[in-house]
Amino acid sequence: MTFRKSLLVAGAAFVIAGMSPVIAADQPDINALKAEAKEIVQGFFKELKGTLVSTMKEKGPAGAVDVCHEKAQEITKKHNKNGWKVGRTALKIRNPKNAPDAWEKAVLQEFEKKIAEGADPKTLVKAEIVEQDGKKVFRFMKAIPVKKPCLNCHGEKVNPDLYKTIKKYYPEDQAIGFKLGQLRGAFTLSKPLEQ
Ligand code: HEC
Repeated sequence: MTFRKSLLVAGAAFVIAGMSPVIAADQPDINALKAEAKEIVQGFFKELKGTLVSTMKEKGPAGAVDVCHEKAQEITKKHNKNGWKVGRTALKIRNPKNAPDAWEKAVLQEFEKKIAEGADPKTLVKAEIVEQDGKKVFRFMKAIPVKKPCLNCHGEKVNPDLYKTIKKYYPEDQAIGFKLGQLRGAFTLSKPLEQ
């Protein structure tokens, strides 16, 4: 190798080495995004649950459906902050507005598979940076298991009068027939990483 050539090689190596910290600094911090997503889910869940529990106590399950019908989407929108889009989705949905897109559907199927293999739904999360329309987007999902109070409105034996109220608002409802501990759906969050 001539002196000139080796200088070039050294120079190129220097440039590449010098560039890597810049690239690293540009890389989104997936762990930080994951932590932020988990915090948003906690706040969102707390508010949904609080509203559900208090209206169930005050007005019973049918009254709670009346309230949920308005409040669930309102509370969802309220938690869209700092570029984050927040929601709930499922394979079997009540509100068509909560229908999963292709990525969400695949993740829900992956969660179902893991549960069938013995995983605890409480622990299931998925975080990934995907490309949408040529731009990087951080996406996050956290599984929602069926608990006892959920069976009132999502179980195998939903009170027929209550189900009439549900059908009034959601004529295409698919979200019944669930058993305790099954996967009801998931929280789903996304944040664009590029403008
Ligand atoms: C009082 C009846 C009621 C109870 C109890 C209830 N839900 Fe729901 N659930 C609803 C209604 C109504 C909707 C549709 C909300 C909307 O319009 O977005 C819904 C929607 C959902 C969704 C969003 C996806 C979809 O199907 O549209 C999830 C996930 C969900 N419920 C999980 C649960 C879980 C988990 C519990 C127990 C902790 C629970 N629900 C208890 C009535 C209920």
